[in-house]
Amino acid sequence: MRNTNWVINYREYDSLEELDPKDSALTEAAIEAQKTSYAPYSHFNVGAAVRLEDGTVVKGSNQENAASPAGLCAERTAMFAASAQHPGLAMESIAIAGGHRYTITEQPVSPCGSCRQVMSEYQRKSGVPMSIILYGKDKIKVFDRVEDILPFIFDSLETEK
Ligand code: THU
Repeated sequence: MRNTNWVINYREYDSLEELDPKDSALTEAAIEAQKTSYAPYSHFNVGAAVRLEDGTVVKGSNQENAASPAGLCAERTAMFAASAQHPGLAMESIAIAGGHRYTITEQPVSPCGSCRQVMSEYQRKSGVPMSIILYGKDKIKVFDRVEDILPFIFDSLETEK
């Protein structure tokens, strides 16, 4: 038996001005994307924005449904749109912001497990690390790669061995 551990590295910032300009612009796009959120059931409105390797930004927002599993989170809406519209381009970064009734939370919104798994898929597909920017009014967290928010990722390559 061995006790081991997993170290997660990420950066915290107090304001958007501290971020790399490309990342602060992407975060502003996520905040903008929140306006298109359709969340009449939870009233939790989320926006996401993906930056592709050529600089293109693709926005998404959560889209709910009376049959709740039919809805989709902002992150997957943005990533699926990016993959459908620009299939050959790596997603180099995704920014997320949200809050109740179109407000923005003080603490960063953290993506659900399914969205993290989808991030991992596109990161593996492109071979380019996808950074993740989680925005809150009081704190911004930046992770450099999906492994840092999804330890022990399921990877279908494992099943092909
Ligand atoms: N939601 C997102 O879109 N992204 C997240 O990171 C967290 C949760 C959505 C799903 C649902 O429409 C609502 O927020 C409440 O869970």
